[in-house]
Amino acid sequence: MKLSHAIVSLVLFYNCNAEAGVPAYQDESLPLDVRVEDAISRMTLNEKVAMCHAQGKFSSSGVPRLGIPDLWMSDGPHGVRAEINWNDWSSSNRTNDSITAFPALTALAATWNPELAGMYGNALGEEAVYREKDVMLGPGVNIYRTPMNGRNFEYMGEDPYLASAMVVPYIKEMQKNGVAACVKHYALNNQELWRDHIDVNLSDRALYEIYLPAFKAAIVDGGAWSIMGAYNKVRGQHACHSELLLNDILKKEWNFDGVVITDWGGAHDTREAALNGLDLEMGTYTNGLTIESKVSTDYYYLADPYKELLKTGELPMITLDDKVRRLLRLNFRTAANRGKPYGSIASPEHYAVAELIGNESIVLLKNSPVSKTKKPLLPLKSDSNMRILVVGENAVRDLTAGGGSSELKPKDIVSPLEGLKSMYGDRIEFVEGYRSGASIYGHVEEIPTNVTDSLRTEAIAKAKESDVVIIVGGLNKNHQQDCEAGDRITYGLPFGQPELIEGIAEVNPNVIVVLLSGNAVEMPWIDKIPAIVQGWYLGSMGGKSIANVLSGNVNPSGKLPFSFPERLEDNAAHHYGEMSYPGNSQSQEYLEDIFVGYRWHDTKKIPALFPFGYGLSYTTFEYGKPTVSAKEMSEDGTITITIPVTNTGDVEGKEIVQLYIQDEKSSLPRPLKELKGFKKVNVSPGHTTDVTFTITPDDLKFFDDTKHEWIVESGKFKAIIGASSTDIRSTVQFSYK
Ligand code: BGC
Repeated sequence: MKLSHAIVSLVLFYNCNAEAGVPAYQDESLPLDVRVEDAISRMTLNEKVAMCHAQGKFSSSGVPRLGIPDLWMSDGPHGVRAEINWNDWSSSNRTNDSITAFPALTALAATWNPELAGMYGNALGEEAVYREKDVMLGPGVNIYRTPMNGRNFEYMGEDPYLASAMVVPYIKEMQKNGVAACVKHYALNNQELWRDHIDVNLSDRALYEIYLPAFKAAIVDGGAWSIMGAYNKVRGQHACHSELLLNDILKKEWNFDGVVITDWGGAHDTREAALNGLDLEMGTYTNGLTIESKVSTDYYYLADPYKELLKTGELPMITLDDKVRRLLRLNFRTAANRGKPYGSIASPEHYAVAELIGNESIVLLKNSPVSKTKKPLLPLKSDSNMRILVVGENAVRDLTAGGGSSELKPKDIVSPLEGLKSMYGDRIEFVEGYRSGASIYGHVEEIPTNVTDSLRTEAIAKAKESDVVIIVGGLNKNHQQDCEAGDRITYGLPFGQPELIEGIAEVNPNVIVVLLSGNAVEMPWIDKIPAIVQGWYLGSMGGKSIANVLSGNVNPSGKLPFSFPERLEDNAAHHYGEMSYPGNSQSQEYLEDIFVGYRWHDTKKIPALFPFGYGLSYTTFEYGKPTVSAKEMSEDGTITITIPVTNTGDVEGKEIVQLYIQDEKSSLPRPLKELKGFKKVNVSPGHTTDVTFTITPDDLKFFDDTKHEWIVESGKFKAIIGASSTDIRSTVQFSYK
């Protein structure tokens, strides 16, 4: 018997046996697909089509006649967005929608701690269910291709293995709350410039090896219930109705049983949407562009125009029923799920999660001895009696605002200045140092030069009289400064910060620069600054985490989830010029192919300023000699490698031990090495902890585009154990077959 026949028979059976008054589709004790078949068998054409498109900005219809609830969605990856109006983007000015702002996903990735990713997903799921959301529009796993991409802060870095390892627990734990994750932006939305139409062209190898694995992990291992199509085109077709991405890969290769949702305004064609696997159209304005319109959602591509083509038989009903089944499945998992918890918002527990993730995400980039004391500046102990000058707008600015759809309205927020004041008390003085202007979507507010100059002059004068200066700067989610719908335009720090940093360094040698951003920045001033900290966007408890790490109450343990190139042209996408990034306004070619991030820096011997996987600690770790279970691996075999890691310093700390694999010789070009494992371990001073990795044949594979499969070739490989992608502590050679 075919599966569909079996399900129909089951439906009939259960229908006959249903308790009086409880239709099978409402009986949560029945298998999901039995309930779905029962519901769909009761639905009219109008009801089915109504489910396939939005009814308001963030809502789509259930089946009111059957008591199947509407779906409610919300941005985004870092917290539940404040309520906006039914059919425009203005705030609906509620007073009950303030939440916890969690650290941005780049920060989460920098923890290299999947357990924290699970805690993040759960806490966010609890906030979402409290706010009666069924679908959270996140997490994002687009690969970090260029530091100019305006939305990198919403993603998990440049490496598919790291992003996969982090996204899976996030999704699993979130969905336990009856809230669907909507993984975005599938796929190749790796720049914001021309994001609604740029046509991305790349090899199958780059697609499968670099850009798809984290999406695949989210779907196959994380079990995500929905996914959001990207705005851009891929090989000539919009991603939201791409036959390749949706039908062939997502639904056939990965067996996805959930819902494909457009990005808002990402649908452009009824036939393609109907046939190529789009299930739910959101945010369209009838002319297909993302502009405001009062026209009814009946005009959506998957609304009346779709219904007409179904009625005339030009489009098959089977396409509609497939969408509706998926939408019902999603609905029963979320909105109609009576067993879900109540959730909570802005609770002490969620603040603790936000702070913990913040603590573990901060990356100590530089901590050199300062000439006078011969000691590094950090940690700056809380009982130090130094006069501390805090400089920089980011020390007081609300960095949960701006950035586009991931903007948040936190109930509480601890700014870096507040965090530092509660750590160091009245030894802290603050000056603004630079000014950036209001955060206005799609617009840059110009700051007059005389204002910039006088703020700088004031800060330099104060810096002269202080013992130590903490400059809190970076980017700030303004337009073109880590924000949706626009890429950055310069790699250097904006708003006159380079001059400010250099000016302060001239009058005071004790300078700590804390960069808050979701992207790498150029640091021509690096040699003049003894201590540099990458502090991301850390949300509600960011100021506490920063003070925790600067004071040494928490030992920094974050490592970079992407490379910081010294110059923009050292980045692979930029190396190949305009056609590679940003393209010719219509299309672009990913000319660097699979050589993204450290794969490029390593293989082409172009060192990054700070490499992937890099981050310092207040202690030191020594890696001992690895023990290896075997020197040969067969088809179904594995090799385990154990490395003793000793904390050789004075303070407790966490270390992220990384395993990379090198294929010594292969029929197709391969990167010098690729991340295939990592472990974060806590080690007390003087203690040793063993870290074990198990290598399987899958870890040795590459995607052979002519065969269209992942293959491993016999030969020699190296297991490379590093404290970063360039700080290699040991290498073990082994052979396959
Ligand atoms: C963004 C999505 C977001 C959606 C809804 C779009 O502009 O690209 O990430 O979820 O808007 O706000």
